[in-house]
Amino acid sequence: MFTTSEGELNITAEDGTKIKLATLTGTEGDVGIDVGKLRAEHHMVTLDYGFANTAGCQSAISFVDGDAGELRYRGYNIEDLAEHSTFPQVAYLLLNGELPTPSELEEYESAVRSHTLLNEEMKRMFDAFPRKAHPMGILSAATAAMSTFYEQYHNPRDADSVRESTIRLMAKLPTVAAFAYKKSIGQPYMYPRNDLDYTSNFLYMMFGLPVAPYEPDPVVSRALDALLILHADHGQNCSTSAVRLVGSSEANLFASVAGGMNALWGPLHGGANSAVVAMLNDIHEDGNDVAKYVKMAKDKDDPFRLMGFGHRVYKNFDPRAKILKGFAGNVLERLGVDDPLLDIASKLEEVALSDEYFIERKLYPNIDFYSGMIFRALGFPLRMFTVLFAIGRLPGWMAHWQEMIEDPNTRISRPRQIYAGETSRDYVELEKRV
Ligand code: SDX
Repeated sequence: MFTTSEGELNITAEDGTKIKLATLTGTEGDVGIDVGKLRAEHHMVTLDYGFANTAGCQSAISFVDGDAGELRYRGYNIEDLAEHSTFPQVAYLLLNGELPTPSELEEYESAVRSHTLLNEEMKRMFDAFPRKAHPMGILSAATAAMSTFYEQYHNPRDADSVRESTIRLMAKLPTVAAFAYKKSIGQPYMYPRNDLDYTSNFLYMMFGLPVAPYEPDPVVSRALDALLILHADHGQNCSTSAVRLVGSSEANLFASVAGGMNALWGPLHGGANSAVVAMLNDIHEDGNDVAKYVKMAKDKDDPFRLMGFGHRVYKNFDPRAKILKGFAGNVLERLGVDDPLLDIASKLEEVALSDEYFIERKLYPNIDFYSGMIFRALGFPLRMFTVLFAIGRLPGWMAHWQEMIEDPNTRISRPRQIYAGETSRDYVELEKRV
């Protein structure tokens, strides 16, 4: 399943204890120390807040080179995939390990197209939410609810059931997202059109109306397709790790993906794209005083951070940000959109990247720094940006869930802790407590 080479690490503790640990080296040279026996043999565990230095698994899906600023899906670099491929092809690649042949792609797209409708009973669920409900709350609730319609596909050990589940999620997520948007603006739901490609159908459901014909702009559809490709996978990020952790208990795919959606919602993760645009708006309304906000971001007493900047892995430019920076200018120009926020973003980037604080900490723009402006230019409202991230990341989440299930090394995720609380003490009766 994985191509790794084994080695050995010998450590001598202060008290002279000899600790021998196995090591694993991956195909791109990253080395992992296997601490699987550390507690049994030496009564010790490792401590690593946020798992910044800890691998929870082996994986063959995407490779992120944080120092070089490179990202590859199953060995293909994202620059080529974003330029030459389509989102359904990339979804197939992530899930199956190979790019589809023309017949495989036709079969896959036809299978997805056959399931874009929601069960009519699911539609009533949207009425239960308040008009102003955040679409991410609806998306994760609807995804978990989908599991109640497909109990026959819950078994993670049955390959056909897993494939049926992945097809339904790929097919129905855009429909759920569009229905959530239509509800928030009081417009009628637009049912999917199977004569349209994946992204054009989503645009139709989002922006079409039953009172007049609506043909999605091919420029917008192509731009969105490339954006979804760039969001499709990214190693063991927070939301993907959540999907793997939930799935490790053999919870069904729908429940596991719903867990990932809730992790993505956070402003430090997938919620950053809308937080970036909100931040740029604030700077714009505050007289474009970029230096003031860079100063705030550096102030340890100020909780403000430059949203869209910094990354756990990239200590160089996020290659997706590089692609999106060029993309933003082209798409806005093609659509005749003149967005002052783009100029502010470029200025903010220029000021931050020349500032010692950001240079020292290797803080560069990440995918979210430009994606929000493009989503806005494509006509999406701010609160839908993280939903778009979720639609893009779905194939990655599902590929990792599949890989976790198929990996013979997988065990239920159950981290240890370093207990730092009260030691044993006697109970005090209520009347004796003062
Ligand atoms: C995504 O993991 C993935 O792959 C995620 C993602 C994906 O595709 O799944 O790439 C998508 O989530 C991108 C990140 C989007 N989030 C943001 O843009 C929010 C702003 N960025 C940060 O909050 C932060 O940079 C994180 C969350 C992205 C990374 O956090 P880390 O790795 O825990 O880094 P850290 O908080 O330990 O920061 C290291 C230092 C700290 O300063 P010191 O304590 O060392 O003095 O850098 C500072 C931080 O204060 N810092 C920032 C900053 N980000 C880090 N200071 C100001 N502004 C920022 N944006």
